[in-house]
Amino acid sequence: MPSRINPSILAADFANLERELGRISTADLVHVDIMDNHFVPNLTFGPPVVSRLAEVSPLPFDVHLMIENPERWAPGYAEAGAFSVTFHAEATTNPVGLARKLRSIGARAGIALKPGTAVEPYLELLPEFDQVLVMTVEPGFGGQSFMPSTMRKLRTLSETVRKTGLDVWLQVDGGITEETIVIAAEAGADTFVAGSSVFNAADPAAQIARLRAAADEHRHGH
Ligand code: DX5
Ligand code: ZN
Repeated sequence: MPSRINPSILAADFANLERELGRISTADLVHVDIMDNHFVPNLTFGPPVVSRLAEVSPLPFDVHLMIENPERWAPGYAEAGAFSVTFHAEATTNPVGLARKLRSIGARAGIALKPGTAVEPYLELLPEFDQVLVMTVEPGFGGQSFMPSTMRKLRTLSETVRKTGLDVWLQVDGGITEETIVIAAEAGADTFVAGSSVFNAADPAAQIARLRAAADEHRHGH
């Protein structure tokens, strides 16, 4: 399976989102960062904007909820047709219940871990999820530097997925460039979010191809 590259439209030109979606049509999914100014100190967009963007997007949406009370909002993104909906482990006391709800609506369910959140308590829940998002920066802003300290979690996850034979995608998000994607691929990631490195490139499609090739070259056993 080739590596998946999901550009984050947090780094796109917000005055021209439809055109920006067209520039990344060779990617795998569109990563949509939802921030509520409570879970993280930043604010982006909400359900009406996401529903309308989904109508004009050539690619399905990978929604990343950096919000409190995901029980209240996550199902709506699934109902709006998101391909996957990922909520933060730190924001809920009932991750399994919410994951089951998302799957029942037809979305893939993802759980995200901030850099300081341990992965061990979530390993036994992996059958309930389609994706684990290991944050490689503190959530809230694009353009930050990749934190190599998060790679230990990815290695633990990738080892568990390999041993159990589960089909769970391992996603990284934050500071992904042609250099850092290699580190994440070697640690076991298969799905890569990239905001500034894609949208700041002169040719986003060429950058997507470069990122995918770099990741493919360094992933083991795919
Ligand atoms: C950060 C977001 C990321 C962000 C990545 O909180 O979750 O998706 O857009 O941006 P870059 O790739 O610029 O670090
Ligand atoms: Zn994100």
